[in-house]
Amino acid sequence: MRFETLAIHAGAEADTESGAVAPPLHMSTTFQHGPAGERRAGYEYQREANPTQDRLETCLAALEGGERALVYASGMAAMQGYLECLANGSHVLIPTDCYTGLRTLFHEFLPHRGITATAVDMSDLLEVRAALRPETALIWAETPSNPLLAVADIAALAETAHAHGALLVCDNTFATPALQQPLALGADAVMHSTTKYFGGHSDVMGGALVFAQADSVYEQAAHRRHITGSIASPFNSWLILRGARSLPARMAWHCRNAQLIAEFLSSHPAIESVNYPGLPTHPGHAIARKQMRDFGGMLSIQFIGGREAALRFASRVKVFTNATSLGGVESLIEHRASTEGANPVSPQNLIRMSVGLEHPDDLIDDLKQALL
Ligand SMILES: Cc1ncc(COP(=O)(O)O)c(C=O)c1O
Repeated sequence: MRFETLAIHAGAEADTESGAVAPPLHMSTTFQHGPAGERRAGYEYQREANPTQDRLETCLAALEGGERALVYASGMAAMQGYLECLANGSHVLIPTDCYTGLRTLFHEFLPHRGITATAVDMSDLLEVRAALRPETALIWAETPSNPLLAVADIAALAETAHAHGALLVCDNTFATPALQQPLALGADAVMHSTTKYFGGHSDVMGGALVFAQADSVYEQAAHRRHITGSIASPFNSWLILRGARSLPARMAWHCRNAQLIAEFLSSHPAIESVNYPGLPTHPGHAIARKQMRDFGGMLSIQFIGGREAALRFASRVKVFTNATSLGGVESLIEHRASTEGANPVSPQNLIRMSVGLEHPDDLIDDLKQALL
């Protein structure tokens, strides 16, 4: 089945009890069992699994082309769910440009277990190879990256990781499987903040891991999630499953709007650079063309006038909303450096944009008046 059809039908079988076409929302925390714990339909307690969560996992595994998926309470819970499976003392390569939460895990939480990270430019394979150590167990990629939209060659990273005996995980939040399927390119697992494009309406939080194989990391992550309780709630799973149905259609519109905006901004005299992989001038454009169906709804811009010009622009927009997060139907912008805590790493002249599903002319008109 093709992606658009899978998005609608995976995990969507009619309910066997009632015939309901829309998936039922099972809120029960507990499931009747026999006197010696015999399970009726495989379920026991919601912290381990529940039918609504299962449907979402079936859907996500199908969309990413993986054998199994695990859904979590947030993208960060999914990220942590994977990283806590690393052996003590492991070394990990992470991208220099990445979601700030990943960096924080390596600064604040993982060192207690002797787990260290080296930040590398994932688009530079020589730098990646040079940073590998005997104890490197994992390469963590994020492509396109947040917020610079850097592009990494997933197939080449998978080859590099595997030749070293390491694994490759790819944060596929920005692209979604509608545009990019890292498992087909050799990644071992994919991580998502389903809070973003899967949910699609800025009203639900969730995360997911999708595993190429039901391997030992999958088994360990599933067990840890069961015991530590970081699973997605049934209601959130239900909303994310609903969002998945329209993901391909929404992504097509996000991509079209973002491409038009990137082209408009790239010729504006106030702008120093537009970071969007759909522009032929983007350093990762050729690789993006090779591994993505389209270039996504995220972009960032850097102002010639520095922080002041970026903030002036942010204070003038009317259709775009100043808010964190991304992937919803509404267009958002954010001065990332202002929201990255005490030691911001994003350039001070950078504004990130999550381009929504409004009419592109209204979005471009808004940008024009904000840039005046
Ligand atoms: C690329 C990326 N990965 C992970 C996350 C974390 O996801 P969540 O906010 O759902 O915990 C985010 C959040 O913005 C993100 O942008």
